[in-house]
Amino acid sequence: MSSQTLSDARQYEKTIGDAVPETDRPLFHLSSYSGWMNDPNGFSFYNGEYHLFYQYFPYDNRWGPMHWAHATSNDLLKWKFQPAALAPDTRPDADGCFSGSAIELDDGRHLLLYTGVNVTDKYGTYIQQQCVAVKEGEEYVKYEGNPVLTSKDLPEGYSRYDFRDPKMFRLKDGTFGCVICACKDKDGRIAYYTSKDGFDWTFKGILAENNGRFGTIWECPDFFELDGKHVLICSPMNMRKTRTKYNPGNGTMCLIGTFDEENTKLIEENDQPVDGGIDFYAPTTILTPDGRRVMIAWMQNWETIVYGAKKFPWYGEMTIPRELHVRDNHLYQTPIRELDGLRRNKVEYKDVKVSDWMSFEGIQGRILDLNIEIRPDDVEDYKHFEIRFAQDDELFTSVRYRRSDGFVTVDRNYCGSRHAVIHQRKMKVDDRGGCIKLRIILDRFSAEVFINDGAQVLSTTFYTRQTADRISFSSDGVAVMDIEKYDLSFD
Ligand code: FRU
Repeated sequence: MSSQTLSDARQYEKTIGDAVPETDRPLFHLSSYSGWMNDPNGFSFYNGEYHLFYQYFPYDNRWGPMHWAHATSNDLLKWKFQPAALAPDTRPDADGCFSGSAIELDDGRHLLLYTGVNVTDKYGTYIQQQCVAVKEGEEYVKYEGNPVLTSKDLPEGYSRYDFRDPKMFRLKDGTFGCVICACKDKDGRIAYYTSKDGFDWTFKGILAENNGRFGTIWECPDFFELDGKHVLICSPMNMRKTRTKYNPGNGTMCLIGTFDEENTKLIEENDQPVDGGIDFYAPTTILTPDGRRVMIAWMQNWETIVYGAKKFPWYGEMTIPRELHVRDNHLYQTPIRELDGLRRNKVEYKDVKVSDWMSFEGIQGRILDLNIEIRPDDVEDYKHFEIRFAQDDELFTSVRYRRSDGFVTVDRNYCGSRHAVIHQRKMKVDDRGGCIKLRIILDRFSAEVFINDGAQVLSTTFYTRQTADRISFSSDGVAVMDIEKYDLSFD
């Protein structure tokens, strides 16, 4: 039996969400059914299909008491909305069901572990505790023994107000591990737990400590082994800008290293921003049945949420799922290979010389897979290269590469926004003597720019009219370019 709070949400999302015309949503990125979306939750493969839940307030395009929405997919591209899975309707989660994860139990049931929050005083301070819900029939039934993890399961001196976002995974011996965002003296820590059954968890140690290096608290951790390394992904709050790597505000980061299992410590070897664009937060991963590590994130940024929020009765979308690899202690991301199955109408140009603004027959649209390789001309070099897309006479979003400082910038200043929020972000890329590869995935309201086979990625949303679909290219000298463009479609 679902609670009144949950059935109200389900009725509301169905009325509002089903009425949204398909063309008012991205084609293959999951967008909110109705109202607000933030972090992806419970990303898992269960009963023959992928499940993705997310932080959800169905009633408005703003954050509110958190529910869990639910969608399923066979290919991680075509999503089907399912009825909301969780609502804040029990004592430990009375004020919200915050982020968490999902696993399949040995007996075949689907288990969700999430953070229940409840307000403890008149100042609205939350206590955060971990709770369980298990699929029984069609419903995710909350465990009567909730909460299963509280601040009592943390070492001395840790905060009970910042203890959230449990991410579970299966360990080699078949039991479960879990990393959770924790905090001591306002500093981010990652707590590590193990369990035999998903209900009863034991504290093992502190996997990593911030010690003031990257922002304050590390939200939404994930931890996995990949290509012989261990990777800890998290979303630090209150980052400071550094010269070439990190941007201020809420960011994302991965620490790559070796797991010292005996001491439950990640021996860090490298740190890296996960996506340096405008819209990317709270990434989480899955191990697919065919062994790929695939990541998805909220394609949004807490600092810029006023932009675009009033356009549709939904707000928020996920990134395209990305396959991950580690090479030379660096994280690489590429769009999931299932996307190749949506490619239509190939248009190709080779060795074109780009100087002042140019466009090319057949290279336009808002739902595209655009692959570009640029190199300097033998005679006349270039220093600066730019692509504008989602363009008409007034609007555009652009990607620029400036060789003098080695930065690629994504810029949506001219996307018609009326808000003084971040509209530009850049990332440093490897110097390859003026050769650079860009893969730009467009899906109506977003661009994800994969640079040099996914060594860096910049993502941004732009909620502009769909008739703005032109694409143009320019360089300040002569750049030689190969273009390969595909429309993307399920038909
Ligand atoms: C990250 C986050 C999580 C929390 C959730 C609440 O975006 O702040 O730490 O669980 O959002 O919606």
